Parts: sequence; structure tokens; C-alpha cells
Amino acid sequence: MRRFENRTILVSAAADGLGLAIAERLAAEGGTVVALDRSDEAMTAARTRPEAAGIRFEKTDLMDLADITDTIARLEADGLRFDTLVNNAGGSLHTPRPFLEETDDHWKLVMDLNVAATVRLTRAILPHMLEKRFGRIVNLGSKAGRYGSLFTGANYVAAKGAVQSMTLQLAQEFGPSGITCNAVCPGAILTPRVERLLSERMTQAEREAAIAQIPMRRNGRVEDVASAVAFFAADEAGFITGQMLDVNGGQGMCS
Ligand SMILES: NC(=O)c1ccc[n+]([C@@H]2O[C@H](COP(=O)([O-])OP(=O)(O)OC[C@H]3O[C@@H](n4cnc5c(N)ncnc54)[C@H](O)[C@@H]3O)[C@@H](O)[C@H]2O)c1
Repeated sequence: MRRFENRTILVSAAADGLGLAIAERLAAEGGTVVALDRSDEAMTAARTRPEAAGIRFEKTDLMDLADITDTIARLEADGLRFDTLVNNAGGSLHTPRPFLEETDDHWKLVMDLNVAATVRLTRAILPHMLEKRFGRIVNLGSKAGRYGSLFTGANYVAAKGAVQSMTLQLAQEFGPSGITCNAVCPGAILTPRVERLLSERMTQAEREAAIAQIPMRRNGRVEDVASAVAFFAADEAGFITGQMLDVNGGQGMCS
């Protein structure tokens, strides 16, 4: 499929994990893709991947408003106007799960990465979409934001809940301008980081028991999430907006 041949696409936090898989999927289908990330190391590794050959990586700290503003100005100066934005930056930043152990600093960090980065990047890119009278915004929610979490704390659950609610509001406000806004809400996906965490924190027997709770009887793969994002980003999803798509092998029904 070559669904994104005439598209200019921005993906945040995209030198590793889900963001990289999403960027590679959209590029494989013909999109002009820019990937923002703050890690030199991750970008250097990503650039060696044949799948990432056509992707432009730009160093940006998505928790820093000035950095976001400078990056977007640089991309605009190069003539880029985005019609597709994937707000992938996020995570629990491994802050404590127990509510009583979470400090204000933990809350601020997680809100900044998940919510403020999404707000700021969306605010910067919407003018491009309004000019084109066409746009696709895909936000990364989470199973945690939908149903709570066994691994992450209230700060992350609340941050993803905020991203998911904002998705509804943006869908209503910008639908009349031809812009859709949807959220993909993954369960645990075996990115290199999650794989490392699970192997440190769970025994093989615990991991097998966890998989037995998932109707599809396997962990999620980055490609599962990339296909869901590609679905919302495609032209053919033009009448679908304000939706949350669970990508969790059915686990949401069981937890
Ligand atoms: N992995 C999962 O199981 C899972 C499940 C549900 C939802 N999600 C959501 O999917 C998204 C991606 O998750 P992931 O696990 O692939 O992420 P990750 O933690 O593996 O990070 C991916 C990239 O984000 C970059 N990054 C981190 N902070 C940044 C910052 N301030 N500025 C710029 N880049 C930054 C990192 O350098 C890295 O390259 C997040 O929003 C996460 O909440 C992930």
C-alpha cells in the first residue's frame, strides 16, 4: 500500500520504540516523514536502519517549548507544511506506581511529556492543517488511560486520560476544517524498553500468566500499533474522528 505518497508527516519521540515503528510504517507507504527525538544515541542507531532510510530525524526535546518552537521554525523554513501529526511522545518515566510515593515532581514530569508536549506540538502544527483544510492527528493514549494500570502510577493514567479527552475536543473543534483527531491506545507492547523491564521485573512464569490473560495469547508488537496509526492517518478514515482504538489483544475486556 502507498497511502501516504502526498503526505508530510511529523512523528514525535520517534527514534526508538513505537514512534520509530510508526515513522517507518508511514515512510514505507510513501510519506515524507520527519521524526523528532531528543536522544542522539537513539537517532544514530535509527539512521542505520534500512527501513528508516527516507526519514529525516531532528533533535528536539519535547519537554522544552523553546526547542519545539525552534525545530518547527527550522522545518517551516525548509518549506515543510505538515498534514499529519502523530503525538507519540509519552511514558510513565518509570516514576513510582504507588500513589502515595508519587511526588509533585513525578506528576509534573509525566504531565509535561505526555500532555504538554502533545498540546504544544499540536498548537504548532494545526496552522499547517488549517491552511490545507485537511489534517490527521493521531495521539498515543494507552490501555492505562482507559482502564488503569498494574504497572504505572496515577500520574501516567491521568496524563493518558487527558490526552484521550483532548482527542475528543480537538475532533469536535477542528472537524469542520477537514481535520480528524483520534487516539490509539496500546496495551503493553514489546518495545526494546518494555522487553528489558519485563525481563527484569517478572519471572518467566509470571510473564506466561500475564499472556494467559490476553485473549490473543501474545504480547503486542510495535507493528500492531503502527498499523492502527496508519489506519487513522489514511485518507479512507476521513469520516472517523474522536475515536479511541484499543490495541491490546482484547486484554481491556478482561482486566
Ligand atoms: N510501550 C508500550 O507498551 C506502550 C503502551 C501504551 C502506550 N504507550 C505510549 O506509546 C508512546 C511511545 O512509547 P514507547 O514505549 O515507544 O516510548 P519509549 O520510552 O521507548 O521512548 C521512545 C523515544 O522517546 C524519546 N524521548 C523520550 N523523552 C523525550 C523527550 N522529552 N523529547 C524527545 N524525545 C523523547 C526517547 O529518546 C526514545 O527514542 C508513549 O506515548 C507511551 O505512553 C506505550
